[in-house]
Amino acid sequence: MNFIINETAQKLRGGYYTPIDLATFLCQWVLEIKPKRVLEPSCGDGVFFSGLRDAGASPKLSVTGFELNEEEAAKSKERAAQLGLSATKVHATDFLGWALENRKTKGELFDAVVGNPPFVRYQYLPEPFQAKAERVFRELELPFTKHTNAWVPFILASMTMLRPGGRLAMVVPSEIIHVMHAQSLRSYLGRECSRLVVVDPEELWFEGTLQGAVLLLAEKRRDSSEKAQGLGIYEVRGRDFLKESPAKIFATTHPINGKTVAGKWTRAFLNSETRNLVDELEAHPDVHRFSKVADVDVGIVTGANKFFLVDDYTVQTHGLERWAHPMFGRSEHCPGIIYDAKQHAANAEKGKPTNFLWFQDEAPLRYKKAKGYIEAGEAESLHTRYKCRIRSPWFKVPSVYSTEIGMLKRSHDLPRLILNEVGAYTTDTAYRIRVLNGTSAEQLVGSFINGLTSLSAELEGRHYGGGVLELVPSEIEKLLLPLPKNGRVDLRQLDNNIRSMSSQDFLTANTRIVLGDLGLSESKQDCILAGWKRLRDRRHRVSSELDAVEAVF
Ligand SMILES: C[S@@+](CC[C@H](N)C(=O)[O-])C[C@H]1O[C@@H](n2cnc3c(N)ncnc32)[C@H](O)[C@@H]1O
Repeated sequence: MNFIINETAQKLRGGYYTPIDLATFLCQWVLEIKPKRVLEPSCGDGVFFSGLRDAGASPKLSVTGFELNEEEAAKSKERAAQLGLSATKVHATDFLGWALENRKTKGELFDAVVGNPPFVRYQYLPEPFQAKAERVFRELELPFTKHTNAWVPFILASMTMLRPGGRLAMVVPSEIIHVMHAQSLRSYLGRECSRLVVVDPEELWFEGTLQGAVLLLAEKRRDSSEKAQGLGIYEVRGRDFLKESPAKIFATTHPINGKTVAGKWTRAFLNSETRNLVDELEAHPDVHRFSKVADVDVGIVTGANKFFLVDDYTVQTHGLERWAHPMFGRSEHCPGIIYDAKQHAANAEKGKPTNFLWFQDEAPLRYKKAKGYIEAGEAESLHTRYKCRIRSPWFKVPSVYSTEIGMLKRSHDLPRLILNEVGAYTTDTAYRIRVLNGTSAEQLVGSFINGLTSLSAELEGRHYGGGVLELVPSEIEKLLLPLPKNGRVDLRQLDNNIRSMSSQDFLTANTRIVLGDLGLSESKQDCILAGWKRLRDRRHRVSSELDAVEAVF
């Protein structure tokens, strides 16, 4: 978790500037429609003004720029003057406030929007900006969430400033493709635009940030009779694409509609054969959404993991045996899919925190050593932490139960379910899974490892710095899970394979069994596996969240 106090001023205003070659490329594309009025909603030091001139804009082109930071606004004004852009106006003020007002008064519309909106988390925005961001969603009747980021309302407001048939060309965070909080924006763009193209680079364009960026080219529908064709993704490596005509890229990148635009755009990375196959399998009677087969609940929230999750040595030293219960919570604690007594003993032997301290009342205070342990926690102010201070006594962790199956929140290659043979507890790094009627825990754990489920995890999940995949419960519920009748997976064998083989190899081997039992040919299985690999590889190279997280599995 990052705190605002630790953030640089540059990061807090979202001040990472666009390289001129990318700006010029985007300007080239919008100039194709011969715009008379162009908007740059957050112009920084004015690199897009240079881009416009480099791409051949007339000095008389009317350009309206906004920039909150006065120093930067002054720089961009000076740049416009040097470029001879005599009809350019830069307002050193907030763009969102202006856009809302302009919409209310049905003010001016623009033929084109270019730029690179600020990347600032909603929680870091000053309150008046938060209110304006929320108003943008409300006025467009779009669902709002406080998980949003400044770039989302910026693009929405920019779209409202665009005339029908106008073009928006922007550098945007690559997380536009998959983050849940951008769903309103994706749906809105899908509806409002005749065509969308995302230029997706293999590398990170902005040094010094982990933030991946893409180029968004969007053309607004001329009227309601014009078809919304959907989204196409154009994947590029290096800067060679800048030599191509943006108009050609826009016209020739095949757009996909329907499901792809309605949800996360990750589906657009798959070829049509794979997309059709996923849809075909979704309709198979033995393929289920995860929520039809099992319940997902978050793990135990202790509020102070270092205090409550401890090794054997700590238990012995402080006489905590009667409150110590087995637990696991990290992928290295369980490299396979079975958490059994042998694995637990091996973890304990290595000094891992294999004990969860469950104090159910004030009884430990009656024991000298245990009382000392609790007082040591208080000396570290653990009892004043939010999760601890709202319960009484502060060291009594609520909602303690274990389930037959655990699932780690994060994975490096693919998610897996873990059969919890020793009834170990899991904390907030893992989910608790309960099987619903008719399916056995073993069957669920064994069938879960297959190309289709792994691919749907890539389609539903989100990823972080370092390319780690994370699934929240609502995403897990949507996973596609084949459960062939008379499932043949040998759990012990699979557990061994996972511990000894590469993920690609054990996934392929188990896919042959699980999807093979559904009657799917090997070539179709390979198509699904190739789709998974493609998305997994892309995730590993693109980072999309500023928080660094540890690599797991
Ligand atoms: C990612 S930078 C991009 C600057 C420039 N468009 C470029 O591409 O180099 C975003 C800019 O938005 C500015 N900004 C942040 N909040 C703003 C707001 N509410 N209104 C106008 N500008 C804002 C920041 O100061 C920063 O210069």
